[in-house]
Amino acid sequence: DWNSGNVIAEQVERIRAQVGTGRVLSALSGGVDSAVSTALVHEAVGDQLVAVFIDHGLLRKGEREQVENDYVASTGVRLITVDARETFLNALAGVSDPEQKRKIIGREFIRAFEKVQQELIAEAAAEGDPIRFLVQGTLYPDVVESGGGAGTANIKSHHNVGGLPEDLQFELVEPLRTLFKDEVRAIGRELGLPAEIVGRQPFPGPGLGIRIVGEVTADRLEILRDADAIARAELTKAGLDGEIWQCPVVLLADVRSVGVQGDGRTYGHPIVLRPVSSEDAMTADWTRLPYDVLSKISNRITNEVREVNRVVLDVTSKPPGTIEWE
Ligand code: XMP
Repeated sequence: DWNSGNVIAEQVERIRAQVGTGRVLSALSGGVDSAVSTALVHEAVGDQLVAVFIDHGLLRKGEREQVENDYVASTGVRLITVDARETFLNALAGVSDPEQKRKIIGREFIRAFEKVQQELIAEAAAEGDPIRFLVQGTLYPDVVESGGGAGTANIKSHHNVGGLPEDLQFELVEPLRTLFKDEVRAIGRELGLPAEIVGRQPFPGPGLGIRIVGEVTADRLEILRDADAIARAELTKAGLDGEIWQCPVVLLADVRSVGVQGDGRTYGHPIVLRPVSSEDAMTADWTRLPYDVLSKISNRITNEVREVNRVVLDVTSKPPGTIEWE
């Protein structure tokens, strides 16, 4: 019988056995997977763990603050924030291919972590105790979809499984590798994490970088962040968070269509809403959102985000569509 208390006890023991007295870095992303895996490792090894939050500039509105304030307050984890926004933007310049974006983002993630590792090693030189371990919030579905599981073909290279560079200097600690999302949430609740973090909808590691169809630029990120914040706020206000697995908001950055606003003709970008219902992200159906909520989101986005003149709804199940557009 599955029981979150048992899983925690079992994982804590496994983590201690793997890590010993070693130091551990954690890849904290702001999402529920990394929040729970980090809290689990913190539970197991306490101050041997340092959590690092890379602000890659592909985050949604308010996410950095949520990690720096709420998460730290509730766990007592030692957190280092790295501002890598410029590095990521430069690395992504001119790149439109989804797989290439994923590889670049994954590579830059690891590089940023390694840089912090070097700094922390220098700091800890007196103690002569290098950081050799890296926590990853990899779930069972990630493992399967990246071809590491039951012989499934590689559909997308998830950056936390398939996109790691050859020169990786860390040994991975992956305490969620056998778990599904609902199990991870149960463990998070059991560990006493705040409800907003535990109940958070999944958000991909590559962030908004794979929700801009086309090249990622600072301006485009700003447009998408604004539209996404509106959609999230309205869905929450309508009490629909529990019914939706996640709702990617996608910017079709290379598409323009003609519109009219006030007296003027516009030539703006479409935003796609992709609300899905799912058990484990392996399959999904599009969520039948109430028309009044869709209408509110559409009106607000087109009124408040200047560059967007059209909002469209994705009504495709998975398969054949994936949840994300890239
Ligand atoms: P797809 O688009 O493959 O998404 O149907 C399935 C689930 O995985 C998330 N996703 C990712 N998560 N790195 C991640 O950590 C990635 O590269 C990635 N791509 C997709 C997606 O948001 C959904 O929950």
